[in-house]
Amino acid sequence: MNIHQVSTESLTKAAEILRNGGLVAFPTETVYGLGADAFNPNALTRVFEVKGRPRFDPLIIHIASLETLESVAALSLLSEEKRKKLYQLAENFWPGPLSIVLPKNDRIPGIATAGLSTAAIRFPSHDTAQKLISLSTGAVAAPSANPFGSISPTRAEHVRIGLGQKIDMILDGGSTLIGLESTVIDITGEQIKLLRPGGTPKEVIESLIGTVLCPQTDTQNELCPQKEEQLCPQTSPGQLKSHYAPKTPLFALSREEIIGQTYENGSAYLFFDGNTRDSWLKTQNPPDSAVIKVLSESGQVTEAASHLFETLHELDNSSILRIFAQFAPPHGLGIAINDRLKRASV
Ligand code: TXA
Ligand code: MG
Repeated sequence: MNIHQVSTESLTKAAEILRNGGLVAFPTETVYGLGADAFNPNALTRVFEVKGRPRFDPLIIHIASLETLESVAALSLLSEEKRKKLYQLAENFWPGPLSIVLPKNDRIPGIATAGLSTAAIRFPSHDTAQKLISLSTGAVAAPSANPFGSISPTRAEHVRIGLGQKIDMILDGGSTLIGLESTVIDITGEQIKLLRPGGTPKEVIESLIGTVLCPQTDTQNELCPQKEEQLCPQTSPGQLKSHYAPKTPLFALSREEIIGQTYENGSAYLFFDGNTRDSWLKTQNPPDSAVIKVLSESGQVTEAASHLFETLHELDNSSILRIFAQFAPPHGLGIAINDRLKRASV
């Protein structure tokens, strides 16, 4: 099999594959990425084919040093004020789970950005990701390493099951730390916009640079507690409703709603915290074989985020018929959890 543990040899081999136009799945601190040389249009085309991803959904370009930023972005097209904001963001959140939409450099082929004049750039903090990017051309386009529309991989094994035969190599660096994707923000417009909630909480970004507008979503109070969505019509081209979906039907419920669910055979119950599970158990008498999961026993959103996709993969590979999942409290990574649950739900 083409899964390799991370080592000097496997990294060298992986970088060579990338330089030659091949595809390598690699760990980042968020989820596993499916890497291709960001300057090579043929390699980029293969990424879309292998994932079954629509061509209108642009890729994130990963770099491994601030010095290489200008090789992928055209910073001269940003106003001085925006450049200042960019460097504030970069100093505070890079390397890390934040992708910033910037004017793209002409060296990045249009296929990478779905024809847009902007590119989402990310400098990941994962050591393996950084080494791989540095050893290759310095710019690696990488969507999450899953077939389009399914749950993102947090382990090499998830990549093997989803894409194994179609790609050239999988670098196994164990489970990813954060467990869901990076936050995507767009700083190219008049106002700074959140395009996808993710590993860097919106409120943390706002404490540094001021108001960040929410994307337009349906009536997602959990995602957008301040109801700012009306202010912002734009969203990421790839943010489709039916994204991150397990094969098993999933119903996302509030705390009150899940506590009110009567136990049914064949259903899995995915609680946000131990306290809610205990409240539910007071009125229910499920058999020992019941599938009952808790994302964070003590109710920590960061811990819950790191278990979300992992647990959905596990449930998807079992024989259960439906999943009842509880929303997280809408703060910090809870907002990203709720976004993914909404998109995973039927
Ligand atoms: O954590 C992550 O971001 C992972 C790891 C591998 O880095 N990558 C990831 O990539 O989640 P992907 O392709 O699954 O999601 C990329 C998101 C999509 O929603 C896409 O629409 C948005 O970023 N995006 C990319 N370029 C964009 C652009 N120029 N303008 C607006 N949105 C963009
Ligand atoms: Mg994805």
